[in-house]
Amino acid sequence: MPQKSYACDHSRLQQVELILRLVEKLHMAYSSVSDELVEEFNPKKEEKEGSILEVGDQAVWSLSSCKAGFGIDQLRDDSTDTYWQSDGQLPHLVNIQFRKKTTIQNIWIFADYKADESYTPSRISIRAGTGFSDLQEVEVVELNEPNGWIAIPLKDAQDKSFDLIDSRPSKMVSRSFSDLEEKICTPDQLRPKPDNSALVFGKYFTDHMLEVSWDSKQGWAKPVISPLHNLQLHPGAKVLHYAIELFEGMKAYRGEDGCLRLFRPDRNMARMLSTAKRSSLPTFDAEEMIKCIKRLIQIDKEWVPYSTTSSLYIRPTFIATDPSLGVASPNEALLYVLLCPVGPYFTSGFKPISLMADPQYVRSWPGGCGAMKMGANYAPTIYIQKQSELLGHQQVLWLYGADHQLTEVGTMNIFLFMLNKNGERELVTPPLDGLILPGVTRLSLLELAREWKEFRVVERTITMAEVIQAHEEKRLLEIFGAGTACVVCPVSSISYQGREYNIPRSEPSLSQRFLKTMSDIHYGRVQHPWAVDI
Ligand SMILES: Cc1ncc(COP(=O)(O)O)c(C=O)c1O
Repeated sequence: MPQKSYACDHSRLQQVELILRLVEKLHMAYSSVSDELVEEFNPKKEEKEGSILEVGDQAVWSLSSCKAGFGIDQLRDDSTDTYWQSDGQLPHLVNIQFRKKTTIQNIWIFADYKADESYTPSRISIRAGTGFSDLQEVEVVELNEPNGWIAIPLKDAQDKSFDLIDSRPSKMVSRSFSDLEEKICTPDQLRPKPDNSALVFGKYFTDHMLEVSWDSKQGWAKPVISPLHNLQLHPGAKVLHYAIELFEGMKAYRGEDGCLRLFRPDRNMARMLSTAKRSSLPTFDAEEMIKCIKRLIQIDKEWVPYSTTSSLYIRPTFIATDPSLGVASPNEALLYVLLCPVGPYFTSGFKPISLMADPQYVRSWPGGCGAMKMGANYAPTIYIQKQSELLGHQQVLWLYGADHQLTEVGTMNIFLFMLNKNGERELVTPPLDGLILPGVTRLSLLELAREWKEFRVVERTITMAEVIQAHEEKRLLEIFGAGTACVVCPVSSISYQGREYNIPRSEPSLSQRFLKTMSDIHYGRVQHPWAVDI
């Protein structure tokens, strides 16, 4: 296999985009390799092997000596401009864009397995198209212990040429925040704000909403903030038939210092992007979206409750709108954002909840979409939630598998604080194995606990048999749910196979400590990088 450089002549712009996506089994070590590559991005750099430089809004990339890299080979005309883009996240995306009709025969992957044994990509999905919006998978490649440059012939794409489209800058959202159009309510359109004491989750909406529409030909239209209004949808819109819909849930807080803050919005946007990809909806530029959301909140800032127990709930929503009954990738979509002032989750104090654990009901399964925030995941849970209420419980404890693994509690991640068999204190939560939603609160609690270094912090599968044994041996200290709505929600009991297991609450309570630490960050009582000024 030749070791070669992929230096690019950027004199002629070409117009085919390829996305190489490392889909599965990428180690975190790879993420750090990517970060190195991203750090190398320096518009002022001279072009040289192993570096990236920028020409206008295009990045030209050539690479020969990094631990991991990508290249294009055997173009009909081998002078090409490439646009290289990495989001530094998993699954890792590398976009290579050409600005002229071209033919591609090989994709080159440089995977120096020996240089870093923890870097073990095993499967790479390659998509190609005329724009980010119409990419189609052309190849999935299994890599067997890669070492050095590997040529991947594009069978279907071979000699396939792509038509020219306009030369819009190829940001993932083609429009940027600076294009934002604002149609502000007239004074008579402004609605009265509810009393803090009357706030019910998701019932009151602020005066404005943000909308960005997309279609496969034009890409993203400019973002628009306008008075809250009903949507006009064709009755054949895909969202209404195949539930091509996803959403996010995040919050803005009014700090004790009067400043408005978001909590880790980048994590919500990363999750939204991964759900968009899985939903065949287009991706977008997360930073631009956060800027648009911030602007929406600034416009409706008086709706952010003046209270350190209430907040503004933010509901980004993404739907497929094209009027076509074909079960296929959408060609039209709408991303919109609603804001709702919300009160405290616990109206009468920090109140533990009782759970129904019935293994006949399953929320997610391997290979499914349990890790995605798609509306379609939630609809089937409502009936089961009702069953638990009829039996006198507040929430469902979702189990999975023959060994009744604990996965989530209601719409929260689950945590157990317990003594392990060696008598050590351990905070345990199920792993991100595709069955559970990767909660932003879950991540934050894990990071806090690891920072405290006071007890073991473990992400592993937990079964009901283990919970019962720990209960019988009095090793259970606390069980609680974690999510944006409540931050933490203690569990008082679990009803399982005809028995009721009362869950103790340790003193001092770990869930209380998490709640206090997180609230201090939310309401600006401590300065923390997770709190992002609006
Ligand atoms: C199924 C499910 N699990 C967990 C969570 C908690 O996630 P987060 O902490 O990001 O709110 C949510 C809420 O979004 C959820 O719907």
